[in-house]
Amino acid sequence: MKTANNWSKSSWRSLPVLQQPNWPDENELNSVLQTISDLPPLVFAGEIRDLKNKLAKAVQGEAFLLQGGDCSEEFCRCTAPNIRDTLKVLLQMAVTLTYAGEKPVIKVGRIAGQYAKPRSSDTEMIDGVELPSYRGDMCNSEEPDPAARIPDPTRLLQGYNMSAASLNLLRAFTRGGFGALDKVQAWNQEFVKESPMGRSYERLAKQISRAMKFMQTVGFDTNTPQLKEVEFYTSHEALFLGYEEALTREDSLEGGWYDCSGHMLWIGDRTRQIDGAHIEFLRGVLNPLGMKVGPKHDIDDILAIIDKLNPNNEAGRITLITRFGAKDVEKHLPPLLRVMKKEGKNVLWSCDPMHANIRKTDAGHKTRSFDDILSELRQFFELHWAEGTIPGGVHFELTGADVTECTGGARQLADEQLGQNYLTTCDPRLNAEQSLEMAFQIAEMMKN
Ligand code: PEP
Ligand code: CO
Repeated sequence: MKTANNWSKSSWRSLPVLQQPNWPDENELNSVLQTISDLPPLVFAGEIRDLKNKLAKAVQGEAFLLQGGDCSEEFCRCTAPNIRDTLKVLLQMAVTLTYAGEKPVIKVGRIAGQYAKPRSSDTEMIDGVELPSYRGDMCNSEEPDPAARIPDPTRLLQGYNMSAASLNLLRAFTRGGFGALDKVQAWNQEFVKESPMGRSYERLAKQISRAMKFMQTVGFDTNTPQLKEVEFYTSHEALFLGYEEALTREDSLEGGWYDCSGHMLWIGDRTRQIDGAHIEFLRGVLNPLGMKVGPKHDIDDILAIIDKLNPNNEAGRITLITRFGAKDVEKHLPPLLRVMKKEGKNVLWSCDPMHANIRKTDAGHKTRSFDDILSELRQFFELHWAEGTIPGGVHFELTGADVTECTGGARQLADEQLGQNYLTTCDPRLNAEQSLEMAFQIAEMMKN
């Protein structure tokens, strides 16, 4: 069924499509996709609309977007402690930013569906053997074994199930009291508590607890959803289009098509070709969309893509997630800001200070340094202020676990220490303490 603008959830199929697995058996793939199409959606269109309305506020500077989570979620880490700890650190960061910035923070996880990864090459060399690249747990296994690297469509169904299980726990935590403001102290993890960041957080949490007590003492009912519950949204890169299509449903209440695999979807820097399948698919779904913009972009191309994805210039629909690197942000960001401002485009500006700040250590670890990440962020804020535009959000790869993947931070994690607890299968993440430290730094910028 095609809509008025000649779009259908499968219209992408006639266009060139990048970054898809070479599924060995088309019939098996189609049968799995049919199964997923018959299963319930993961999120509801009403929630997606709420998120878009909140993001529209952030475009005006009346809210701030915090988006973060794993580079690549893994099936074997879909556990209660992992989900809880990622949620904890995001809630800690959000409360820190809310308190300093005096505006609501929109919390969006890279979670419950971030199982598909774009790669720079179809194959990779491991110990002298050429293997199909690992494309995320929804495609193949990261294990360096030729059989384990063959794309397996049943993993799409497993990804759906893992996403449902993660989302179920996230909903339980955020609705059931875990995200209540009187729990701010409980979000501080044991291994963070004794660090300088942990102690700063403890002081902030005490202030919030005292304010809550004061409100109760003077007779306010603090048993309200605003204080007891927290709105939390999910997001992932919309990469494997067959999977996204299978979860795209028409809203029975208000009509319109929504990709119900997650609330917010983003388009990667490698798959945003204006005449490509990814843009075709995403132009027809009504979700809020993120778009990564890296150093190789062309401004006219970005403008044309925005027109295609958001012909009515609706605020909240498009978040431009810039990722230029600490060294190049000063060169690339201002021209982009000026053009969008001149053309009157309603976009939310978010900074991904992770993806263009990667380096390899002598021992071969892929890492990022805390200082480079902070430097890109700081310049992002300053360049926006200089242009009179609004720095409205941040996008991180982070985890609530005590990993050693990014260098620096208060503990001055060195290259040689990265091997201690290096767990990521893809890009290096900030650990809980580094994430909190980053939030305190952003909080200082937001006070300006
Ligand atoms: C990512 O966010 O994990 C990613 C691959 O980003 P980008 O498309 O910006 O490289
Ligand atoms: Co990444």
